[in-house]
Amino acid sequence: MRMRKKKHGAERIAACAELLIQPPCALAAEPAPPADPQNWFPVPRPLHLEIGCGKGDFAVGMAAAHPDCNWIAMERVADVACLALEKAMRQRDTRPDNLRFLIGDARRLAELFPAGSVDCLYLNFSDPWPKSGHARRRLTHPDFLRLYRLILRPNGLLRMKTDNRGLFDYSLEQFAAFGMTVEFQTTDLHHSDHAQDNIMTEYERSFSGQGQAICSVWARFGTEETQ
Ligand SMILES: C[S@@+](CC[C@H](N)C(=O)[O-])C[C@H]1O[C@@H](n2cnc3c(N)ncnc32)[C@H](O)[C@@H]1O
Repeated sequence: MRMRKKKHGAERIAACAELLIQPPCALAAEPAPPADPQNWFPVPRPLHLEIGCGKGDFAVGMAAAHPDCNWIAMERVADVACLALEKAMRQRDTRPDNLRFLIGDARRLAELFPAGSVDCLYLNFSDPWPKSGHARRRLTHPDFLRLYRLILRPNGLLRMKTDNRGLFDYSLEQFAAFGMTVEFQTTDLHHSDHAQDNIMTEYERSFSGQGQAICSVWARFGTEETQ
């Protein structure tokens, strides 16, 4: 997602500080152990984490639809996260206090989350990086899957949506190599059993508006480390 630099970006993000997680490890001079993410919420609840949340429609919608869970939406690009934060701030009066945002790169997940602290992880319309030389940037590359397995609780769930068949097939291969169990899989989410409870992302709305079918898979890590 390429964006022109936001005017007053830092001030706009600062205005949303109540929803923004400032992890201790980002502020500490020395490497610090990851804090309990439940400390960022008024009430501990099962933790759901979206990586690459973009402008935030999915996280804001899911947090409202599932007040029994805590939600963290993570985004690498601060100017994009700013739009998601501002969207959530606008709904402050109606939304339960169960959504926080984290600006950072998923490569740092192990510094940010204790092992086993996340119940469910979401990858929505991740950049496909089709060139094989860029495979390590794909959010379902084994380097990332090892991080997800670490921070997810045993048998934790990974849910993915994409319009990109190449990334979908690649991801299914990686999940199989990691011994993950596929619980749900479709190449047409909007005509599947999960069409009703699906909350669309910005990219999803755009792709499906152009008539593209949406692929989705839900897969669980096992207890054995195969990779
Ligand atoms: C194609 S956009 C999709 C945005 C949104 N999920 C949607 O479906 O509308 C992918 C997003 O993932 C973010 N992203 C890519 N790699 C990331 C990483 N390693 N850590 C955190 N965010 C990342 C990008 O900055 C971008 O905003």
